[in-house]
This record gives sequence, structure tokens and C-alpha cells, in this order.
Amino acid sequence: MSKLESFIRRMMAQRDCLNFAAQRIEAMPGPVLELGLGNGRTYDHLRQIMPDRDIYVFDRNGRPFASFAPPDNRIFRGEVLETLIQAYDVLGKTAVLTHYDIGTTNTEKSSKLAERVSPLLNRLMYPGSLVVSSVAMPFSHWSVVPLPASVKPGRYFIYRVDGLR
Ligand SMILES: C[S@@+](CC[C@H](N)C(=O)[O-])C[C@H]1O[C@@H](n2cnc3c(N)ncnc32)[C@H](O)[C@@H]1O
Repeated sequence: MSKLESFIRRMMAQRDCLNFAAQRIEAMPGPVLELGLGNGRTYDHLRQIMPDRDIYVFDRNGRPFASFAPPDNRIFRGEVLETLIQAYDVLGKTAVLTHYDIGTTNTEKSSKLAERVSPLLNRLMYPGSLVVSSVAMPFSHWSVVPLPASVKPGRYFIYRVDGLR
């Protein structure tokens, strides 16, 4: 498979997993978290498929095109390991969907960061909520959700947050 084809498939997997998760949490009230704004591509998709949701964005230096920029009061700017802690004071345990897209080409570094992010993110997530991730995030309080049929296992990841209300 060419690099181009692999990129296209990853983008399709990302879109299909976000669409699937948005449908699954449709009946649950609460905000959505976008970890990794980048140029705002997936943020723009999330706001189009969930126009009535508050979407909070986390990035240390994401530079989206102006028309994809989230409102200032919906951005946590800085290192995610710190801003997730600050976000708890604002949001509590209310988030119903997170898209985690902070991976890099350095797989080992990405996995280590995801391991440190998981418990901080878990504090913000309402029981039964979903985490859609570009990186595997094995965490003891989360169960693996089967992917949409269009997505090859290992290309994207979806977890359900367990726990008592
Ligand atoms: C792959 S890009 C996100 C792409 C974006 N979802 C999109 O579709 O356009 C990853 C983003 O994560 C941010 N990032 C990486 N490590 C971070 C960290 N430790 N804390 C906060 N943001 C981080 C980078 O600044 C970058 O904007």
C-alpha cells in the first residue's frame, strides 16, 4: 500500500470512528473534548456532526485556519498533562466523548504520553462515555469497543469508560 493510500485509510477510519461515536452518545448530555487541535480538521468535523455540543479543545500550539478556530473560552492552551488537571475544575466529570489525536510518528513516545493522559482524562469522563483515539490507550477502567466494520483493527481505537455514576 502506498503512503498516500495508507494516509487516506487512516483519515477514513478517523471519520468513521468519530461518526460512530457521535451517534452512540447522542442521548447523553455533556461536552466533547478534542485533544490535539492541529490545523483544526477533526475539530471542524466534530462541530459539524454535533452542532449543539460544547466542544473543548486542548493543544499546546495548534494553529488552525482562522475559520476552524474554536472560541477562546473553549480552548485549554498548554501541555495536556497540565491542562487536563485544570479542566477538571471547569468541567468536572461531565465529558461524554473525547477524541485523542496527540500521537506522533514516535510510537514509543506516543504510547508513554497516552499512558500518562489516560488517568487524567478518565477523571473528566462521565461513566458510559467514549474515547476515540489515534493511539492505543489500554487503561484499566476502560473497555474496548468494537470498531465500525469499515475500520481495520489497529488503525483507530474506541474505548468505553466504565465506572459507577
Ligand atoms: C496530529 S495533530 C492533531 C491533528 C488534528 N486533530 C487535526 O485533525 O487537524 C497533534 C496536535 O497535538 C498537539 N500536541 C502534541 N503533544 C502535545 C502535548 N503534550 N500537549 C498538548 N498538545 C500537544 C500538537 O501541538 C498538535 O497540534
